[in-house]
Amino acid sequence: MGIEDEKKYLKDVKFNKYFEKLSGELENKSIMIYGAGILFEAVNQSCNLSKFNITGVMDQKFEAENAPAEFLGFKTCKIKDIADHKPDCILVAVKNYQPIISRLSAEYPDIKIMPLVRKKHVPAFERRNIRHNIWIDENGLHGKKRKNLNAFQKLETQIRTRLNSLIGRIEIPQIEFNITTKCSLRCKHCSNFIPRINPEEHCLISIEEFKTQVDNLLKAVHKVKNLLLIGGEPLLVKNIAEYLEYAASKNKIERVWIVTNGTILMNEDLIKTAVKYRNKVTIWLSNYSKNEDLKNKLKHEEFLKQIRENNLDYDYVQDLTWGYTSEMKKNKLREESESYFEECGINCVAVFGGKIYVCPRAGVFVLKGIYTPQIDEVIDLNIENKPGQLKKKLKDFYSREAFSACNYCSVMEDRGHDRIMPAIQLEK
Ligand SMILES: C[S@@+](CC[C@H](N)C(=O)[O-])C[C@H]1O[C@@H](n2cnc3c(N)ncnc32)[C@H](O)[C@@H]1O
Ligand code: SF4
Ligand code: SF4
Repeated sequence: MGIEDEKKYLKDVKFNKYFEKLSGELENKSIMIYGAGILFEAVNQSCNLSKFNITGVMDQKFEAENAPAEFLGFKTCKIKDIADHKPDCILVAVKNYQPIISRLSAEYPDIKIMPLVRKKHVPAFERRNIRHNIWIDENGLHGKKRKNLNAFQKLETQIRTRLNSLIGRIEIPQIEFNITTKCSLRCKHCSNFIPRINPEEHCLISIEEFKTQVDNLLKAVHKVKNLLLIGGEPLLVKNIAEYLEYAASKNKIERVWIVTNGTILMNEDLIKTAVKYRNKVTIWLSNYSKNEDLKNKLKHEEFLKQIRENNLDYDYVQDLTWGYTSEMKKNKLREESESYFEECGINCVAVFGGKIYVCPRAGVFVLKGIYTPQIDEVIDLNIENKPGQLKKKLKDFYSREAFSACNYCSVMEDRGHDRIMPAIQLEK
């Protein structure tokens, strides 16, 4: 990429307009620049940066002791000296600014951290729902690639998905239904904090409740590509076959998954139903076999035998590792979480207690009384909505730029940790 390409990029993202806004916002403020690459050079050539009070420019290349004292007429400085400079604002001059903004904001909560050049604005609904739909079509869910699309088919998928959205048809790429919060394991790093749910807080969704919730959802949507029956441990629900039968019998639902830890074998009814709907059911057996401590609890060999004998579709990821999950936080970790949510990029919209949340954690945080969601951050599927109302709620939900739950979440900080052994158990 040369400087002319960067200037073209500035035009594409309508930098001039943003620069005017920045100029107003940052008048009389002391500013540091983070990133002295070709993007910064292009900005410097394209507009008059002298109207800003820039006190220093930082970059990895200026960290050495013999670094030049100046760059493009601006004083250079070391990243470690930010606190001494006490700028009002740091402008991050790299294209992929989100991770840097998150890191610097956590380290310097009193300094305003912003991008120098903002990316092109893509409406949230397109970023979250449409793109996830396209991604799922191209890549499948979890480890399973369902379709090998050629370039033409990919284009067709993209056009169809966008058109559907334009004419108001909502397609849900992936939604998980928590049918029980109870579990047969107590994983220390469970990403959904299931072991932190106390006995009196547990909730089980009855088959009648499940049917109501699915019916209400399907009245509003055109298609659900993947519906996951999940928990806790969903096989603790003895009549899980009925849940599977109900979901799999719906034409609007393309695929139903059962996500299980493999501590409980499938009962006869479940096998029968899975066989009946074999072409649209996948058993997601979480592979914890690497964890020697679980040897006596896991029934994976027998489980896989059940799957193979009945020729069921399944997903059993080899060499599974887990992300580290730190303790659930009870206090607000940040006031605003737009960039945090964006960076998290999680796409597992979850129905918890019959209500749709942005992710399972958001549901557990509510159950634990950690936060109260805003009205449009949660959609109740237990109640019937007027025609069109739920559709609008879903559209608004997918169009949100942030969710309050994210203010209490440390998923991004945890991602800095090394991968760990799956399903390490809590001691007590
Ligand atoms: C929360 S579990 C619920 C279903 C079932 N109890 C199980 O363990 O498969 C859903 C999925 O999340 C995955 N998971 C849980 N904690 C994780 C972590 N810290 N890192 C990566 N995956 C995790 C599990 O392996 C499982 O596939
Ligand atoms: S990850 Fe572990 S604790 Fe969490 S729901 Fe699954 S088996 Fe239970
Ligand atoms: S709470 Fe927000 S940041 Fe945390 S996992 Fe859910 S969506 Fe991501």
